[in-house]
Amino acid sequence: MLFNPLQLGSITLPNRILLAPLTRTRADAGHVPNDLMTEYYSQRATGGLLITECTMVAPGTSAFINEPGIYNDAQIAAWKKVTAAVHAKGGRIFMQIWHAGRAAHPDINDGVPTVSSSATAVEGDIHTLTGKVPHAVPRALAAEEIPAIVAAFAQGAKNAIAAGFDGVEVHGANGYLIDQFLRDTPNQRTDGYGGSLENRARFLFEVLTAVTAAIGADKVGLRLSPLNSYNSMKDSDPLALISFLADKLNAYKLAYLHVMRADFFGAQKGDVLSIAREKYQGVLVGNMGYTAEEAEEAISAGKLDAVAFGTSFLANPDLPARIQLKAPLNTPDQSTFYSPGAKGYTDYPTL
Ligand SMILES: Cc1cc2nc3c(=O)[nH]c(=O)nc-3n(C[C@H](O)[C@H](O)[C@H](O)COP(=O)(O)O)c2cc1C
Repeated sequence: MLFNPLQLGSITLPNRILLAPLTRTRADAGHVPNDLMTEYYSQRATGGLLITECTMVAPGTSAFINEPGIYNDAQIAAWKKVTAAVHAKGGRIFMQIWHAGRAAHPDINDGVPTVSSSATAVEGDIHTLTGKVPHAVPRALAAEEIPAIVAAFAQGAKNAIAAGFDGVEVHGANGYLIDQFLRDTPNQRTDGYGGSLENRARFLFEVLTAVTAAIGADKVGLRLSPLNSYNSMKDSDPLALISFLADKLNAYKLAYLHVMRADFFGAQKGDVLSIAREKYQGVLVGNMGYTAEEAEEAISAGKLDAVAFGTSFLANPDLPARIQLKAPLNTPDQSTFYSPGAKGYTDYPTL
């Protein structure tokens, strides 16, 4: 089943083995992609679909140093090399578009103040250019400021298409800005963007409306992680949240819905994938801790349409071939996940 083609919006994937979005912090100064990134993505072009690392839709919105952006001409020109190299190898690539919200810090964003749904901070420290510092306490966005951020997502999507991407994945997961609205622990708003599920989902749906209008719904995916407590995230009822969203998302006719099934820290539990499958009628992509065998079983059983592989694809540029041949896998080296240069990035061997 992993090697059965899959229709995803207007493109056909030759297999259901997707590259999960992976931040690798190798971009150049000015958040500009480079030749090393071009090599990294093109090495993985045999994936059914590649999803890029989260990419800034506006300046001043990054949670990491050396993260790429998609808000100016230099970035668009550099991403063109990435998409051309992936397409030359017969691949397909979506860009994950992103605003870090409260997970950003002024020290890595040229002093730009940190904003979120509410004035609630991520616990613990963040890596900045001057070392580790406590996360910033964000300023709660005024309702009047939200349309400009929605417009930045739409412009980022247009820029991604101009850079040759086949589509975008809206990053609604892992405790970044959209997720900071969705979940009720960070979101303490009392206006139309807080409280009920409808209100907490309002920002996400405004982003999806704008992005789908900008580039076409068949070119737009969405990633959610209702259980993940990464970035101090919590919701009082994650199952109700995914149930509500999966149902309402049908109206947007997206290319796919991508759901992370678990919590990095194991704190919040529940079967979010079954609920997503029951409520959502479009293409469902699952992720987190899948082996090829489990992915095959899940797709065969109709629980999912495709699986995104993160750390295993990171360490195995030829992952689809290895799965097909049942060949052994390289082991991911965590110490080089976010380090600079080719080591642990483009030097994992193929078969
Ligand atoms: C180094 C690293 C960077 C990641 N960066 C992102 C990211 O930019 N966007 C995102 O949505 N998830 C990100 N994730 C989460 C992965 O997409 C994926 O959900 C996670 O690795 C679990 O899948 P796996 O068990 O197949 O590795 C990252 C994970 C790792 C290990």
